[in-house]
Order: sequence, then structure tokens, then C-alpha cells
Amino acid sequence: MSDEPDHYFSADPAAPEQRRQVRVILGGRLLTLTTARGVYSPGRLDPGTVVLLRGAPDPSPVGDLLDLGCGWGPIALTLALRSPAARVWGVDVNRRALDLARDNARSIELHNVRFCEPDEVPADVRFATIWSNPPIHVGKQALHALLERWLPRLEPQGRAHLVVQRHLGSDSLQKWIGAQDWGLTCSRLSSAKGFRILEVNRP
Ligand SMILES: C[S@@+](CC[C@H](N)C(=O)[O-])C[C@H]1O[C@@H](n2cnc3c(N)ncnc32)[C@H](O)[C@@H]1O
Repeated sequence: MSDEPDHYFSADPAAPEQRRQVRVILGGRLLTLTTARGVYSPGRLDPGTVVLLRGAPDPSPVGDLLDLGCGWGPIALTLALRSPAARVWGVDVNRRALDLARDNARSIELHNVRFCEPDEVPADVRFATIWSNPPIHVGKQALHALLERWLPRLEPQGRAHLVVQRHLGSDSLQKWIGAQDWGLTCSRLSSAKGFRILEVNRP
């Protein structure tokens, strides 16, 4: 066993998996999906994720769409249900989460979503939509590196929506994104239940 502490963003969580079923509504459908210990929010839809799914504008109906930090898959599965003609990518570093997300897509016969590690997404793919409940707890430096890697890959007309808890630095993150030389602007789309939805696009 590794000496690293076990996090929801560990590559291979040490906690016994202990799979369980959760009933959730995604894309207007009541679904029974599988979660497990060692992944983010295994007992229910995370409240921030709910705010994003309710508050973000419609995803692009076509093109490549990204869920950055997909966990067991609720955001990517919603994108795939709502945009059946698009190609959805769910990326994560937690391999247990990726296995669960793949099993969940299979169980509801969704074929337009691929769950994989970040390096498996071809470098030339550009995204029409990025939705993310980003991993704030990885620390500022790692979070900034993650956003620097993916946000500049928005298509010219693409839009990203990120949900961030107000108490976990949403306002300073908004300023930081806007100050980067990526040719992107970042504004606050809405605020609900202590969360902000940040919108990122090209001016
Ligand atoms: C706040 S959780 C959100 C999970 C899921 N999207 C949800 O809404 O329940 C953030 C996710 O980002 C993942 N993550 C952490 N570092 C990452 C990285 N460098 N690249 C991709 N995903 C990462 C974590 O493993 C975790 O599953």
C-alpha cells in the first residue's frame, strides 16, 4: 500500500471499493448508478454539481464536450444525455472513478461518452463545451495547472462553465482566470446555495 494519504483524487484509492447504488436524476431521467468509496461524493450528487447541472446553459449539441474531473460521471453522463449527437469526454486521474463512470455509461447504454485519463485525449481535440466541478482541494498550484491545460482548448465559439464554492475562492479564481493570457474572459454567470457558476469564453 502507498504511504500517500487517500484522496478522492488519488490515482488508485486504498480504501476498499465497496460499490453501492445511487438513484439520481440526470438529463431528466431517473437512473440507478454505481458509486464506491475512494471517489468524490459517492453517496449522492454533490450540491455544487447540482447547481451546475441546473444553472449552466444548454451544452453544445455537437462537437467535443468535456467534463473536467468526471468522478463517477454525473456531469459527463448529463452532457451525453442532453447532447446525443456530440462526443463527450470525461477525464479524471482517479482510475476507480473512471471504471465506475464507464460502467455507468454502459448500464444506461450511452455510447457517445468516453471516460479516460487526461493523457488519453488526443492533443488536437478542441471543446465546444467544458463543464467542471473542479478539484479545489488539490491546492492552488495544481488547480491552476489543470485549468491552464484544458481551458485554452475551448473552440473559438466554445464556452466553459465551472462551479466553485464561494468560500473556497470562487471570486479569486475568477480573477485569476481572467488575468491569464489565454485570450479568454471569465465572468460570474450566477450564484446559488453558496456556489458560483463561472463562465469562460473568448471575447
Ligand atoms: C470535485 S470532484 C467532481 C467529480 C464529479 N465531476 C462530480 O461532479 O461529482 C473533482 C474531480 O477531479 C478529479 N481530478 C483531480 N485532479 C485531476 C486532474 N489533474 N485531471 C483530471 N481530473 C482531476 C478528481 O479525482 C475528482 O474526481
